Amino acid sequence: MWVDGAPRVACVTPARRMDGREVTTLEGLPEDDRSAWSSALVASGGSQCGFCTPGIVMRLAALEGPAVDERIDQSLLAHLCRCTGWQTIREAAHAVVDGPSTTDRVEPDRTSADTGSSSRDLDAAAARAGLEGGVHQRVDPAVVLGDAGFADDGCPDGALVAVVGAKGGYAVAESLPAARALAGKVQGRSTTVPLTHPVDVPPGDWAVTLATTWVEPAYLEPDASWCSPGGEPASPVGNGGAFGGKLHSPVAEDARRLADEHGCPVRVLWSREDVVRRGPKRPPVAAGVTADGTGVLRVGISGPKFDGPAWDAVVVAVATVAPRLRLEQVAVAGPPVSLDLRAAVWAEAAVLAAVAHHAGARGPVLDVPVEVISPGGGRATARLGPDGSVDLEVSAGAVLDSVVLRSYAIGAAHQALGWVGSEGIAVDAEGNVRDLTVRSFGILQSRAMPPVDVRVDIGATGTPVNGSDAVFAAVAAARWLADGLAPAWPTERGAESRRR
Ligand code: FES
Repeated sequence: MWVDGAPRVACVTPARRMDGREVTTLEGLPEDDRSAWSSALVASGGSQCGFCTPGIVMRLAALEGPAVDERIDQSLLAHLCRCTGWQTIREAAHAVVDGPSTTDRVEPDRTSADTGSSSRDLDAAAARAGLEGGVHQRVDPAVVLGDAGFADDGCPDGALVAVVGAKGGYAVAESLPAARALAGKVQGRSTTVPLTHPVDVPPGDWAVTLATTWVEPAYLEPDASWCSPGGEPASPVGNGGAFGGKLHSPVAEDARRLADEHGCPVRVLWSREDVVRRGPKRPPVAAGVTADGTGVLRVGISGPKFDGPAWDAVVVAVATVAPRLRLEQVAVAGPPVSLDLRAAVWAEAAVLAAVAHHAGARGPVLDVPVEVISPGGGRATARLGPDGSVDLEVSAGAVLDSVVLRSYAIGAAHQALGWVGSEGIAVDAEGNVRDLTVRSFGILQSRAMPPVDVRVDIGATGTPVNGSDAVFAAVAAARWLADGLAPAWPTERGAESRRR
């Protein structure tokens, strides 16, 4: 929002401080500006789930003069987008702030004529987005303008509010401040506890070893739902964006139960801290492989052993991408883990298979193409240049909409670069998460994101399949090679965080 015409972060600004000030939200922008920003972000693919977008629009709409990249990056420092990888947001900013004459700068790596809104089929775009994100997602100017249909949006006035209390149950009251007061919880913070790598590398004479740490899925919209007595709860995944993180969120059933108990509509709202403490994480792993890709991949399990169809699917997926890798499950202390998270376990296996034959190299390996074919048939080739830039080729069956596929590919590259290089949350010896703020997750900010050049295979035919998960694994492998196959991730966060 703007306060007296200057951008401010609404989510940490107490309402009482706004007394006598002029507050402008996205709804208060002139219609021409709203239309310009929503068109530009849809055209570039710079809004996916859209949860971050209205705030980013207000921030960028306050820019004046030529929108050089440094000014855009600077202005985005207070923001986080988990989905897009920033580049398409920057492109939209240039299109709006610099005007149409400079929009050609975003075109060269486009590979299709369907980038203009007049020729786009937004239903096909939404179908592509659904394939890439794994859940329904709209592609529409309304999403940019804050009307994506998020979980809490449709709740009727007068609903009770339920928040997580200090002892773990829900505190239910007539308003959010009242529920928070009842909960009696002090907000957690980040910590100086070092990152750990909870799974031991399997014994063996390996050419390459890897140990990963805990990472936060870090979807922007915290888990939320609401329900009327006897009704159906609102989905916590109203417009995608969680990359598997909310597929089995308990908030919907919690809302149903509380609504039935109280006999009136109830909103269930998790805070960021609740999401970090309770939300599922990608299982940490440790592995060793020989130069021909033979090896063992250990998967850390903090709850009951994985069993049943979800694990069977992982076993099949790993056999497809890394046939010489044997899987083991090992118990670890930590937050819940899930196989729902983006390409969980098979991406790690694909990375190990892709890098194994480079094991003899001493030092960084750059500028080599790394190809990953996902178990579903999506194909990606990633190459990291000496300047850190990322070159990508993506093939994912009939393209449906190259803007969306390109945007998801850039977003997957962003996630992969962060996963290998900078992301991690501290978990103490008892298994409690100690990094509880968005800032502590190590997600790459806009200014740290290198340019990504994407070539989408628009000539591909056949059933459309997910392409961005293959990008995720291919970029992770390319980044790890560039980091000289350092034995622990994140590679940038220092040896002090490593147990071995
Ligand atoms: Fe930015 Fe989803 S589009 S968080």
